Amino acid sequence: MARQQLIAGNWKMNKTIEEALALGEGVAAGAGPYPAVEVAIFPTFVALPALAAMLADSTLKLGAQNAHPAESGAFTGEIALPMLVGLVDMVILGHSERRAIFGESSEFIGDKVRATLDKDLTTVLCVGEQLEDRNAGNTDAVVGAQVRDGLRAVAAAEMPGVILAYEPVWAIGTGLTASPEQADETIGTIRASLAELYDGDVADTVRILYGGSVNPGNWDEIARQENVDGALVGGASLKAEDFTELVRISAAL
Ligand code: PGA
Repeated sequence: MARQQLIAGNWKMNKTIEEALALGEGVAAGAGPYPAVEVAIFPTFVALPALAAMLADSTLKLGAQNAHPAESGAFTGEIALPMLVGLVDMVILGHSERRAIFGESSEFIGDKVRATLDKDLTTVLCVGEQLEDRNAGNTDAVVGAQVRDGLRAVAAAEMPGVILAYEPVWAIGTGLTASPEQADETIGTIRASLAELYDGDVADTVRILYGGSVNPGNWDEIARQENVDGALVGGASLKAEDFTELVRISAAL
């Protein structure tokens, strides 16, 4: 069964509400002609209500960049999943910036994955190795452990609610991308570990995105790799023309 391509834009800490509405409008218009490709945008929390209202009749999916696993409580500055229900379709969890800058552990990320699935929201679980891991030949071990920890409380029957994103940390925001072969190989290894953790059906059907300095110039070659089901895009998602060019490239595969 062919897996549907997904182009996902992680806007990170960019765009005011007004700017986010303009970008969302541009993305919806630009992606409109390519309905075969699923398109999702992940603005900041404050822009979500306005974008949800604007995109109510659009096929564009809306997502949050993070969430806390608790239902509510004394967690200053955090956003709980019940606040996102009805507002978003997806939640990015375990982004390398959350892991590295905010010190989130794989175990905590696993709690978030569990809590997100409990709310029937789709999880985009990010995994990826640091440059020193790759240079030491530890990529598969590091990424494999992140996958295992992130999914430790998820049953095979729940895996349709999970999308994975392989993002080598050394390729994020640096202009360096993994070669198409590196991306395909590591994502293939992730599929093999899903076959071990679950079964071959899960390994074949779960969508796994590539992320890390994806742009209109390098996407075609990476997108053509057998194991790659789409992209999680940072920098190039902040311009509607660049982002929708990625959608067009995926639609033409
Ligand atoms: P980038 O970010 O495309 O700017 O490298 C990707 C990401 O962090 O998801």
